[in-house]
Amino acid sequence: MPAMDNAAVIRVAGLGKSYETAAGLFPALKGVDLEVRPGEFIAIMGPSGSGKSTFMNLLGCLDTPTVGDYFLAGKNVAQMDRDALALLRNRTLGFVFQGFNLLPRMSLQDNVALPLVYAGVDRETRRERARALLAKVGLGQYAESLPNRISGGQQQRVAIARALVNRPRLILADEPTGNLDSHTSEEIMRLFEALNDEGITIVLVTHEPDIAAHCKRQVRFLDGQIVSDRLTGEGGA
Ligand SMILES: Nc1ncnc2c1ncn2[C@@H]1O[C@H](COP(=O)(O)OP(=O)(O)OP(=O)(O)O)[C@@H](O)[C@H]1O
Ligand SMILES: [Mg+2]
Repeated sequence: MPAMDNAAVIRVAGLGKSYETAAGLFPALKGVDLEVRPGEFIAIMGPSGSGKSTFMNLLGCLDTPTVGDYFLAGKNVAQMDRDALALLRNRTLGFVFQGFNLLPRMSLQDNVALPLVYAGVDRETRRERARALLAKVGLGQYAESLPNRISGGQQQRVAIARALVNRPRLILADEPTGNLDSHTSEEIMRLFEALNDEGITIVLVTHEPDIAAHCKRQVRFLDGQIVSDRLTGEGGA
């Protein structure tokens, strides 16, 4: 790994996170180094409790590290104030969750447009962009529907459209197919592949080797550390 690469979308060095528990500090992440370059499509794997979500939440700026450095789009996240970080996060990355996390009383179109409200984009532009993205993920005809009218796989497509609405260069997804059957999971992975083909960098957590096979690089966690990092198809675990 190059010592310094400003072109990296993500660069973490010595990243650690300890949680306070009744039994004392619990080190969930122990000194992780990783660089993600533009256009990469990475699967984060490893057993339950190995620190995958802890790591993703740090990458998504949803949580702060106990120790170590995180450079997002070349900027040192620890040195940014709250507003600057919120702006960088909104413009740079979209997050997709296992549970879709759509707002149940809002139309699909309004769900997709929600990040644009926070970004101060006007109503008409929000509508147009949300409609275009729903069409892109194959759900244009459901723009006015509520989330409970569509399937889980369709809801995840909406969540992906929402993650794309600020035109991020990076998508972070924590077990995006974890609640979906295998056929629907394959469809979602084909959507991620198409987005990656368009140049969007993707980091995705999965337990499933079949899902990870869609990615170009596989990084494996164990006990809060990276224990393997290989290109898909290189063989071995
Ligand atoms: N908020 C928290 N407080 C205390 N401990 C936590 C907290 N969040 C996670 N942990 C612990 O940190 C470790 C790593 O958790 P994490 O959720 O990152 O694992 P994971 O690899 O995502 O697991 P899974 O595959 O089950 O989602 C686990 O032992 C977990 O119990
Ligand atoms: Mg997890």
